[in-house]
Amino acid sequence: MSEPTPELFDKIVNLSKRRGIVFPSAEIYGGFRSTYDYGPVGVLMLRNVKDAWWRSMVQLRADVVGLDAAILSPPAIWEASGHLDNFTDPLVDCRNCGTRHRQDKLDDPEQCPSCGKRGEFTEARQFNLMFKTQAGPVQDDGAVAYLRPETAQGMFTNFANVLNTSRKKPPFGIAQIGKSFRNEITPGNFVFRTREFEQMEMEFFVPPGEADEWYRYWCQERYQWYIDHGIPSEQLRLRPHDADELSHYSSGTSDVEFMFPWGWDELEGIANRGDFDLRQHAEHSGQKLEYFDQPNNNRYLPHVIEPAAGATRTMMAFLMAAYHEEEVNDEKRTVLRLHHRIAPYKVAVLPLSKKQELTDPARELFANVAQHWMTDYDETQAIGRRYRRQDEIGTPYAITFDFDSLEDKAVTIRERDTMEQVRLPIADVVGWLSEKLA
Ligand code: GAP
Repeated sequence: MSEPTPELFDKIVNLSKRRGIVFPSAEIYGGFRSTYDYGPVGVLMLRNVKDAWWRSMVQLRADVVGLDAAILSPPAIWEASGHLDNFTDPLVDCRNCGTRHRQDKLDDPEQCPSCGKRGEFTEARQFNLMFKTQAGPVQDDGAVAYLRPETAQGMFTNFANVLNTSRKKPPFGIAQIGKSFRNEITPGNFVFRTREFEQMEMEFFVPPGEADEWYRYWCQERYQWYIDHGIPSEQLRLRPHDADELSHYSSGTSDVEFMFPWGWDELEGIANRGDFDLRQHAEHSGQKLEYFDQPNNNRYLPHVIEPAAGATRTMMAFLMAAYHEEEVNDEKRTVLRLHHRIAPYKVAVLPLSKKQELTDPARELFANVAQHWMTDYDETQAIGRRYRRQDEIGTPYAITFDFDSLEDKAVTIRERDTMEQVRLPIADVVGWLSEKLA
């Protein structure tokens, strides 16, 4: 396990840049305010985080369906949800150096962390975090639109649509993955807090009497998901909110927290939201959002349990937990011990030499394996270096096609973590990998 030190943080940022995981956005123009682009390796990893979540939350469950709602949304949604009034952070300006800070995140509420001066802050102002824009060519109030600051509202506004079309009844959930936007006062810590990020949220609608039970269930499920995908239990905790942290409508919220280099911080919140959301939207839209339980002749507004996670933040935690450095034959080996479902590439095909007699059949093998898994192909540099490159991006299996392969129709597969090698007939490779990567 890697210690979550500031050095580890720097190593992850450097590795991300060097190996095409995450690049600072608009870098050729000097970068753009805590926005990031996911490179050829990072895009695969981020997709895998989202796919692993979708697999657990939608694919493997008969009681959850998916949704992909619009990012652009009318003010009515955010009036009903309370975001227009309440989605604010307290903002203070330093009169001495002009920097802006989130008051509730200051170590010392009197001292500016940028210039060190004390007693120079302005009165705190409530700053709304939503990005406001105009839809269409007219610039009047009727054209105001917002970029969603969370994916959750799409699930509430489509509750009746999903209920009427999916044949689901409470308890059931609607899940969504997608971009959200918040004009954070102090973004930072790499992709931990950004203004554009991806969320993975699920709204689970339950009969009111079952809410507490389902809340406990989802807290455990979501904690276990991170463990099952490779976060060591020493680096993860489930922290129930204190009463003074709870929203007025929530009867319980717990955060799944990861031990980041700056301390425990949130990956996901699981909240018992009561009927607040459906009630608000029913009142503001004038639509009935109740569920009619026909056998019991009972009409009710379902209560909601919401596990809300960040995909980009979770990817960062997976990178940190997986990062290891070790000595192998007097040389430093950097290896990302990622769970195979999260690893960007599952397999690499490496011909021992660039000679065409090897590269032709190696490419044929690549084409075959790539039918099943994301596969890298690399014929540059010495084989030892190529193994190291694959270790650094967490590829679980590297297949070497050598000169003997031409004779014995077999290849060597090297396992990332143990570095053990097995020789297998080429015809058996896909079957062997299928078992390992199940
Ligand atoms: N619908 C509830 C909701 O959005 P949240 O705690 O504000 O709850 C859920 O957000 C998750 O989204 C967080 O736990 C975090 O992982 C992620 N998240 C929130 N703001 C973020 C930001 N500025 N940058 C990256 N991830 C963020």
